[in-house]
Amino acid sequence: MGKGFFISKTVGVVGIVLGVGAVSTIIALSVVYSQEKAKNLEVSPTKPPTTTTTSTGAPATTEPSNEQWHKYRLPDTLLPESYEVTLWPRLEKDATSGLYIFTGGSEVTFRCVKETDLILIHSNKLNFTKGANGHLATLTGLDGSSPPAITQSWLEVRTQFLVVKLDGNLKADQRYVLHTQFTGELADDLGGFYRSVYMEDGVEKVVATTQMQPTDARKAFPCFDEPAMKAIFNITLIHPRDRVALSNMEEIAAKNITIDGIEVTETKFAPTPRMSTYLLAFIVSDYTSIGMMAGDVQIRIFARRKAIAAGQGEYALNVTGPILKYFERYYSAPYPLKKSDQIALPDFNAGAMENWGLITYRETALLYDPAFSSNANKERIATIIGHELAHMWFGNLVTLKWWNDLWLNEGFASYVEYLGADDAEPSWGVKDLIVLGDVHRVFAVDALASSHPLSSKEEEIQRPEQISELFDAISYSKGASVLRMLSSFLTEEVFVQGLSTYLNTFAYNNTVYTDLWDHLQAAVEKTGSTNKLPPNSRVHDVMNRWVLQMGFPVVSIDATTGSLSQQHFLLDPDSVVDRPSEFNYEWFVPITWQKSGTQGTAFWLLDKTATNNDLKVTGDQWVLANLNVTGFYRVKYDDANYAKLLNQLTIDHTVIPVINRAQLIDDAFNLARAKHVLTTLALDMTKYLKAETEYMPWESALDNLDFFYLMFDRSEIYGLLQAYIKGQVEPLFNYYQTMTEMWTKVPDGHTDQYNQVNALRMACSTGISACTQLVQTWYKAWMANPANNPIHPNLRSTVYCSAIAAGGVQEWDHGWKMFQSATIATEADKLRSSLACASQPWLLNRYLEYTLNATLIRKQDATSTIVYIANNVVGQPLAWDFMRANWAYIFNEYGGGSFSFSNLINGVTKRFSTEFELQQLQQFKKDNAHVGFGSGTLAVEQSIERTQANIKWLKENKDNVEKWLKQFSP
Ligand SMILES: *[C@@H]1O[C@H](CO)[C@@H](O)[C@H](O)[C@H]1NC(C)=O
Ligand SMILES: *[C@@H]1O[C@H](CO)[C@@H](O)[C@H](O)[C@H]1NC(C)=O
Ligand SMILES: *[C@@H]1O[C@H](CO)[C@@H](O)[C@H](O)[C@H]1NC(C)=O
Ligand SMILES: [Zn+2]
Repeated sequence: MGKGFFISKTVGVVGIVLGVGAVSTIIALSVVYSQEKAKNLEVSPTKPPTTTTTSTGAPATTEPSNEQWHKYRLPDTLLPESYEVTLWPRLEKDATSGLYIFTGGSEVTFRCVKETDLILIHSNKLNFTKGANGHLATLTGLDGSSPPAITQSWLEVRTQFLVVKLDGNLKADQRYVLHTQFTGELADDLGGFYRSVYMEDGVEKVVATTQMQPTDARKAFPCFDEPAMKAIFNITLIHPRDRVALSNMEEIAAKNITIDGIEVTETKFAPTPRMSTYLLAFIVSDYTSIGMMAGDVQIRIFARRKAIAAGQGEYALNVTGPILKYFERYYSAPYPLKKSDQIALPDFNAGAMENWGLITYRETALLYDPAFSSNANKERIATIIGHELAHMWFGNLVTLKWWNDLWLNEGFASYVEYLGADDAEPSWGVKDLIVLGDVHRVFAVDALASSHPLSSKEEEIQRPEQISELFDAISYSKGASVLRMLSSFLTEEVFVQGLSTYLNTFAYNNTVYTDLWDHLQAAVEKTGSTNKLPPNSRVHDVMNRWVLQMGFPVVSIDATTGSLSQQHFLLDPDSVVDRPSEFNYEWFVPITWQKSGTQGTAFWLLDKTATNNDLKVTGDQWVLANLNVTGFYRVKYDDANYAKLLNQLTIDHTVIPVINRAQLIDDAFNLARAKHVLTTLALDMTKYLKAETEYMPWESALDNLDFFYLMFDRSEIYGLLQAYIKGQVEPLFNYYQTMTEMWTKVPDGHTDQYNQVNALRMACSTGISACTQLVQTWYKAWMANPANNPIHPNLRSTVYCSAIAAGGVQEWDHGWKMFQSATIATEADKLRSSLACASQPWLLNRYLEYTLNATLIRKQDATSTIVYIANNVVGQPLAWDFMRANWAYIFNEYGGGSFSFSNLINGVTKRFSTEFELQQLQQFKKDNAHVGFGSGTLAVEQSIERTQANIKWLKENKDNVEKWLKQFSP
């Protein structure tokens, strides 16, 4: 799945507050699904299942016991071979039930591998129609065998099984077919087979679509819903004659038929290859498409008619072919299917989903319109397409056996998405941006004592909500970071060779993560590259230390003696690590380095301490380590080396590679938080920014200063901080003013365009009057002529936000009107975030009320909108009051699917830094204990921990920061 709750740095900018804060980047991805409800059921296991009306002979008790059906995993008795599934989604409300529903029938052919008198097959929220035998299913034998009779059949709600008991054993090596007929709700819950709704020409249109990963295929039809239960799927969809039906494979037959007097079309799709259930997709819509051939592969982009007519699918169509071809070369394996459809959905929970042959996206992640979309939107589209296409092989063709290895699947795609995007857009330099987008982001999370290792034990991941919890920053971003490190020290050439044999060996099958290490090790040996690894070590030995223990090291280098050491890096030095590690929190660390611009020979730090005399410096020489941050570690230097590096930054910062300039800043700020260095050293690192024009160092500094803003924007230090930043950013603002000829031109470079946004954002938020005037003039011109927006798409988030912050109800209402009439989701998103920048409390309160009205703010956007409001210093207390007042309602109404409680709780409380706020938070926890916090349970704990840490940090740093700012503010 693509990253979920994705706030693109330049898109999600809000108000005076910058980007996403360091510790607050605990970006649990918004994959909540319906596990909240499942969990609720679990706390009251005695509650009778709601399906008693359709169960026949269910055991009297549903108390958890040792029975197979009370366990979450499938037994090892049966293996599916193929399914014949017919589904008929109704795009209009069912007259009798008042629900949107779908009906279906399924026949699954399975082989018995161990004798058993029990059939367990996943099923969730489906109502079954009894067969002629009076049971929820019927069974037939293949190959001339006659099956035992069904004696009992019922649904286990908690473990999500259809249970079928037989009066005799199924025989090993015999094949059987289980037939079922069922009805399900086509709910707007974003999971399983669900409905998405949009308006077109005043008419409401319903799309029936799917999101199966991880465990919701069982909500669409009964299936062996585990990734290793690969099978062939023959899918048939029944749909209105004027709608298109899509599935993973190409259509092979369509015929017009009449069922119960209803005229419909029956569309059949080619049988799939052997694949996992979580990758299935079925969609019925009124969409159109554009397409082209990339070699033998048909590529199509589907979207709302108006979006396609406006050309919004063109960009995606144009990059897909090249990226697909790139991955074919990269993997040395042809694309496994005949077609590759990609479709943009108005309601979609994650960013995108890699269904084999039919990838689903949020509209913002696929549709591009140069009149509305920024370069950040464009980059997101290219990278997310890269991510999903990468999965077509890695994940889909070869699939991890169980969800505990999810990190390898998602980490891999999150790494190579940059390679794919880079191939499509080579001028962007997008590969460097992984350092900001993934490495820095996850450093913040993985430095907490409450982090977790990449790899989980299979037996620890059982329940659907445990699976969902794995879709987090660790799996995606740390996974990507350590694979990039691996590829870097092995060299890309060796890495892709191992990858290719891995994919070709395990095609259409399942693996565990060590299978990849085996193939990489074989590639190392075959290419004579053992010198890329530590002496007498295998790939496994190095990677175990990064995969099996949480966290990462800070490497301390003393350049006066050449000694170095490593230590588990913890953001809060007082935090207690109670998770044991067989490697004692030591790592095999690849050290790359240079001395005053001259590259040295890379080596391994294998122990807690070591000495390398090459690192010793004399005179003005300085040492810099972890070049381009290819290693997943932070670096700390001795004071003298820091002084020389600072001096180098002041005299000529370009001698230090741009990624490392960003890194020096990020390391210094985080080392200061962890009390390895003084906070004033971190601030010292920002002094040279007066002369810096590159995006990465600026972005890194602003990300880190965000924490200072959060801590100080309600205190007397705010004025000093603003004055200092204003002085630093003024030259950058002037630089862009000149480069763009008074803001009439767009900078050429991709990252220059990003940094232009930073310049404008910071200049306006620190009150540089040329900036505020500029944005207000633009916005006023737009208000006067709404059909003609003079603001360049790259700058819209920032300009809207600044203008709405400085304006009143008229500016806000204009923004709201434009939001409601936006014809492309990216424009709507920019407005939605900017509307949170208002400075009048009543406007923000009104906006908060809108978030719980799905006709005003889509459910998928509710959490992020509340968090946007909380990012605004004026909105923060309002959002907190709102969340507290409405908790029970939010929890019950938005419990399933779309609502990310952990983002909400972390987002609303990240500014907390007083004893009073801590008390309020603890009270909130107490008051709502009976309601629960669902997927936000951990976030409540993290918020309390973070508030305590903030209180401590303020106590220790306030005076020093004030003194420093007084000295260096103009
Ligand atoms: C699915 O289609 C394939 C190929 O046509 C066929 O071999 C298989 O038996 C079908 N499966 C079922 C359950 O009908
Ligand atoms: C399934 O059955 C339950 C219990 O009778 C009912 O409340 C629900 O509406 C049914 N769902 C559908 C989609 O028919
Ligand atoms: C089904 O009917 C529709 C119009 O009612 C027509 O456009 C379509 O071509 C027909 N399809 C087939 C397969 O006959
Ligand atoms: Zn993914």
